[in-house]
Amino acid sequence: MDVLIHLFVGLHIIGIAALLGGFLTQMKAMGRGDARFTPAMLHGALTMLVTGAALVGLNQAQDHAVDNVKIGVKLAVLIVILGLVYVKRDDEKVDKPLFGLVGLLTLVNVFIAVLWT
Ligand code: HEM
Repeated sequence: MDVLIHLFVGLHIIGIAALLGGFLTQMKAMGRGDARFTPAMLHGALTMLVTGAALVGLNQAQDHAVDNVKIGVKLAVLIVILGLVYVKRDDEKVDKPLFGLVGLLTLVNVFIAVLWT
């Protein structure tokens, strides 16, 4: 079962790569005000949700303690990210503050994941 948990942590990290990588590749466009939410960002955010939920289940099944407050905060932040990316997925241009907010919230979740112990 531990192998399965590590496998899902790997998939969780691939999700961050798609979401954050998608954001980073658009930073120049964001400066010009014509960034857009790419499919990689939407699929990355969905991957985070699915693999995160699976990780909670797998850890609980193994009687590994899961910090529900930490996970709840990460989930709330991801829902805001997912909502914004989903609603604006077809927009050809997304305003700089809104696009920047998604990048910022993604970074917030990365640091919640690694610093909240
Ligand atoms: C943008 C959103 C997210 C980011 C950037 C993120 C980031 C990370 C990172 C870097 C790790 C590995 C480090 C560690 O083991 O502490 C991790 C683990 C984990 N994540 Fe996420 N995560 C996100 C969303 C979620 C969501 C929505 C859930 C649950 C529904 C979740 C549940 C978990 C669980 C259960 C682990 C296993 C380790 C632990 O107990 O914290 N994550 N996450």
